[in-house]
Amino acid sequence: MEVRKNRLFLGGVDATRLVGEYSSPLYVYEEEVIRKRARELRSAIGSERKVIKYSCKANTNIEILKIIKEEGIGIDAVSPGEIHAAIAAGFRPEEILFTASNVSPEEIDFAVARGVLVNVDSISGLRTVGRRHQGGDVCVRINPDVGAGHHGHVITGGPESKFGIEYDRVDEITRTASSFGLRIRGVHQHIGSGILDAGTFIMAMRVLLDVAKRFDDLDFVDFGGGIGVPYRKDEKRVDVALLGEKITKEYERFCNEYGKTPTLVIEPGRYFVAESGFLLATVMTVKEGHNHRFVGLDTGFNHLVRPAFYGSYHEILHSSNVGENGDGRDFVLQTIAGNLCESGDTFTRDENGIVDRLLPPFKEGDVACICNAGAYGYSMASQYNSRPRPAEVLVSNGESRLIRRRETLDDMFISRIGT
Ligand code: LLP
Repeated sequence: MEVRKNRLFLGGVDATRLVGEYSSPLYVYEEEVIRKRARELRSAIGSERKVIKYSCKANTNIEILKIIKEEGIGIDAVSPGEIHAAIAAGFRPEEILFTASNVSPEEIDFAVARGVLVNVDSISGLRTVGRRHQGGDVCVRINPDVGAGHHGHVITGGPESKFGIEYDRVDEITRTASSFGLRIRGVHQHIGSGILDAGTFIMAMRVLLDVAKRFDDLDFVDFGGGIGVPYRKDEKRVDVALLGEKITKEYERFCNEYGKTPTLVIEPGRYFVAESGFLLATVMTVKEGHNHRFVGLDTGFNHLVRPAFYGSYHEILHSSNVGENGDGRDFVLQTIAGNLCESGDTFTRDENGIVDRLLPPFKEGDVACICNAGAYGYSMASQYNSRPRPAEVLVSNGESRLIRRRETLDDMFISRIGT
C-alpha cells in the first residue's frame, strides 16, 4: 500500500480505479505482502528440520493458496472443504495436516482416503480413527493448559477451551492408540490467535515439549499458529526473527534430550495474509445524526465480521483523500456503517458499540478502504441479508487480476434448488 498525491495505491494500482474496473465492494490482495511474510517466517526458524504451514482458514482463495505453495509452505486444514481447496491449489496430501474438531467419521475418512494425516483433538476422536483405520497414522492435539489471544473467542488453550486432549492424559492417549495399533506421528497444539507476546507462546511450547518426550517415535512437533499482526498504527509488530530464535533454541534443547530431531512445525494463518488484504467499499449515504455522522457503505459485517464479532479495530482510509500530507485539521469524527439491517453493523466500534473515528470527510461516491482485511475477512463472509459476496482481486507491480468473481443472486438461490 502506498500513497501517491493523496490517493491510495494497492500493489501499484489506484484503489478507486480498481473499484471502477471490478465494481464495489471488492476484496483486494497485495501479492508481494504475502510473499514477504512467508519468507520472513521461513527464515525466522533456524532449526535444520522445519516445516511452516499456512492455516488456510484465514483465507482459502485458491490463487492465494498457490502463492503460499510457491513459497514452500504447507497447509493446516480444518475441514474437507479446506483439504479440497489445498489439493486443488496443488498441495500434496503429505503437506497437509487435518486438524479435526468434533468432526464426523466420514470427514476423517475423507482425509485418510486422500493420504492426509488426521490430527485428533479428543480421546473419542482417537478411537474413531482407530476403529476405522486400524494400524494407521495419527497426530494428537494437546491442550497445554495455557491460552492466549486477542479476544475470548479465539483463546484455544486452557480449561475453558474445547480443543485438544489435556496435557496430563498422555497415558490414556498411548493406551488408546496402541489398542488400535495406531502410530502417533506427531503432537500438536494451538493456544490461540492474535498473540503479540512471545512469552506465552514459549511457555506453552515448553508444556508441549514435556508431553512430546513421553512419545518415543515422533516425526514432528507442531506448535500451532497465532502470531499477531499490528491492526493499529501504534501497535508493535511481533519481531518474528527474535521469536524464531527463541523457538529454535527451545527446540534444540528438547532435541538434545530426545536424542532425535523431529520436524519442528508452526502453522500461522493471519500472519501470512492479514496485511495483504483490503476491503474497498463505496459510500452510499452520509447522514448527520444527532449523535454521529453516519457514513454508510455498500458492505457490512456480512463481508467483514471482525469488528462486529470481536470489536476488532481495522484502519479505514479514504482512497482519494488519504490525508497523510495534510495536518488533519479537516478531519471529522465519523461512524463508518454497513448496509445490513442490524445496528451492530458498524466498522468503527469496539465490543460495546460505536467508537467514532477522526477521518477525512467522506461524501457519497467516495471509496473507503478497510485495511488488514486479508485474514478472516472473505473466509468468514456470509450471504446474510441475501447479499452476494464480493469479488476478489490480486494486485502486483501495477497489474490487477480477478481471482474470484463476484457472487450473483443466482449463485445464492438457483443453484440451491433441488439437485
Ligand atoms: N492452527 C489452528 C489449529 C487454528 O485453529 C488456528 C486458528 C491457527 C492455526 C491459525 O491461527 P492464526 O495464526 O491465524 O492466529 N476468526 C478469528 C481468528 C480465529 C482463529 C482460529 N484458529 C479472527 O478473525 O481473529
